Amino acid sequence: MENYKIIAGLGSAGKKSCHAESRRRLAKVMSLSLVLSVMGLVTLAAQEMDGIISPNEYSHKAEFDKGNYILHWKTSANSIAFAMEAKTTGWLALGFEPTRVMKDADMVLGWVDGSGKAFIVDAWSTGTFGPHPEDSSLGGRNDITGFSGSEKNGNTIIEFSRPLASSDKYDHSLPSFGDVKIIWAYGTGDNINQKHRKAGTSVIKLGP
Ligand code: HEM
Repeated sequence: MENYKIIAGLGSAGKKSCHAESRRRLAKVMSLSLVLSVMGLVTLAAQEMDGIISPNEYSHKAEFDKGNYILHWKTSANSIAFAMEAKTTGWLALGFEPTRVMKDADMVLGWVDGSGKAFIVDAWSTGTFGPHPEDSSLGGRNDITGFSGSEKNGNTIIEFSRPLASSDKYDHSLPSFGDVKIIWAYGTGDNINQKHRKAGTSVIKLGP
């Protein structure tokens, strides 16, 4: 009898620990799958920054200057990816929320040099017609999390990603859904201090 009690006691303790063990296992599996899916998203975002605009890579698109400058974009939980595409071998730029012409626009300028290397600058326009120094030279920072570019047949593509929210004074936070005023421009050469060949203003709707 005594033995039976002990065995029963053990049995119930065994059951409890068995439940605890399966809960622990479930928690492990869940956290592992969370880590894997986050890694998957990061890998996906990294893969997209390849200077190529694949079909269905971006969910939104707008054409300016009769298709000579095309903008593609897609938001995800906390970040946004853009691809600028223009008929030039010079620089391409995108700016957010200017107050007057170019002033106070949070700008991103990119170009691909003769050897195929891509460059990008996180800038801010201090005046109505520029200049647009780098955020870092104004006391801000570079918030671009990934970028890539390519140049082919006189066309340039610059892809970049950034967080939607920014605490940098020289970046405007962007909504995951909703309208944003933009300015776009492209130049003839890689020197970003040389004025654009074409520029324009528009409102785009951000979304996933
Ligand atoms: C060195 C660089 C730049 C210089 C010297 C420059 C200069 C100017 C000037 C003088 C104007 C007045 C209109 C004109 O003369 O065409 C202008 C207009 C404009 N700029 Fe820039 N700009 C520069 C870069 C940029 C960049 C990077 C963007 C966009 C991100 C931009 C967007 C615009 C827009 C939207 C307008 C108004 C165009 C219009 O209403 O037709 N600019 N810029």
